Amino acid sequence: MNSSLKLRITLLFSVVFLAFESHAQTNKLVVNTESGNVQINKHIYGHFAEHLGRNIYGGIWVGPDSDVPNEDGYRKDVMQALIDLEIPNLRWPGGCFADEYHWTDGIGDPNDRPKMVNTNWGGVTEDNSFGTHEFLNFTKKINTVPYITGNVGSGSVEEMSKWIEYINFDGESPMADLRRKNGQEDPWDIEYWGVGNESWGCGGHMTPEYYANEYRRYATYARDYGGNKLYKIAGGANNWDLNWTEVLMKNIPLQMMDGLSLHYYTVTGTWEEKGAATKFTKEEYLETLNKAAVMDDLIAKHSQIMDKYDPEKKVGLIIDEWGTWFKVEEGTNPGFLYQQNTMRDAHVAAITLNIFNKHAERVHMANLAQTVNVLQAIILTNENDMILTPTYHVFDLYKPHKDAILLDHFLSSEKVAFGKQSAEALHVSTSKSEDGTVNISIANIHPDKKVSLDIDLLGKEFKTVSGEIVTASSVDTYNTFEKKDAVKKASFSDFKLNKNILKVDAPANSVLMIRVK
Ligand code: AHR
Repeated sequence: MNSSLKLRITLLFSVVFLAFESHAQTNKLVVNTESGNVQINKHIYGHFAEHLGRNIYGGIWVGPDSDVPNEDGYRKDVMQALIDLEIPNLRWPGGCFADEYHWTDGIGDPNDRPKMVNTNWGGVTEDNSFGTHEFLNFTKKINTVPYITGNVGSGSVEEMSKWIEYINFDGESPMADLRRKNGQEDPWDIEYWGVGNESWGCGGHMTPEYYANEYRRYATYARDYGGNKLYKIAGGANNWDLNWTEVLMKNIPLQMMDGLSLHYYTVTGTWEEKGAATKFTKEEYLETLNKAAVMDDLIAKHSQIMDKYDPEKKVGLIIDEWGTWFKVEEGTNPGFLYQQNTMRDAHVAAITLNIFNKHAERVHMANLAQTVNVLQAIILTNENDMILTPTYHVFDLYKPHKDAILLDHFLSSEKVAFGKQSAEALHVSTSKSEDGTVNISIANIHPDKKVSLDIDLLGKEFKTVSGEIVTASSVDTYNTFEKKDAVKKASFSDFKLNKNILKVDAPANSVLMIRVK
């Protein structure tokens, strides 16, 4: 009997054993450490910076004349935090803003750039001082990959086509010459290109049939230049709109589309009466996490439709907007979507990233909404001060999963319940890095109970183990400008390894990354 078959049989026994044991509320994880062939695309760990509130202006860009320490107009502290996090990509300029953005307003001498009204976000005046050059040079400075969303809602095919020529064409042409005149000799050779955003809503209120036709037209003139191949992303569905996915998959030839997007926000309460970011009951806490966990089923349902038209899974599902959406903080502009970020957000991030890993075969990219000062931000700023949120620390903790091979596992977890809400206490993801290290991320969402987890590592014998943790005294703990490190990443060692058996004591309200070698 070959070793892989042996492992599969052992796993099967383990499943039966777990099914039996789950009645006894034993917490057990079985990991097949030699199972995987799907790579977790690092782009799943991507981010999103829209011209919204204090995300770009004040968050990333302060301009070269600002008193806030900056390098060529970019905040130094934010830049460093993003470099440290090794963010794989950054989506820009929106969001809803993208379908009202005319790129030619954001090039050339900043003093000559026309202003516009940001009608989607607070009705403030946008001075276009942060445009194509400022964005693409920023992505270079922070070593990340740009993902630009073009304007389908209020722009033209010609406008989008010329933007791509401006950015990517190496030879002599009106657009490439204009780029050179504006100070950029070489093309940026960008790959990721979104054809509109939320075309069912703020991007033009289109029907899926109408958008599918529009996509075909816009995508035709979104040209490849030189050796650079664009990865074209069609504007996808709003959470459960399965019909949108069906119509697009049916009507857009597969060779015209590399990715199809999906947006899902975790809202506590209702859209009209959203819950607060920092004040919540334990029942509301579980409601939030259960709503985040819906992502699993959501991806499965959209994938099922995609599988019908694309069984080889060539088209990536791109979840380019996800995260928590709470009531704005008191006293802030409601159009700026500024919210605090607690350990509850850390658990939402952990649960969601575990789910994305699980669906790595279909999910090729994802973008948390958003980067600085907006929605589930990883960074908050105040004049020239900055804090990292619990969500930032979870992305930091999860670094080993990027580009690792997804491993099969089976989990049996005890439950946690408050009021009408109940959920499994443990949420995990397992992967293997290139050097053979097995990565196990574990969220213990129980607010007040340590959970002991027995882990069977099927496969070779393991010798060393290390751990890191993000935790705090309560699920509503958050970092403030006065207390910046109430939640931070720390090392963790409450585990015992004996060959293939690992015991981990996951503290209440914690997210862990355990690495065995
Ligand atoms: O992320 C905030 C907004 O949410 C985006 O602009 C839009 O695409 C979505 O509705």
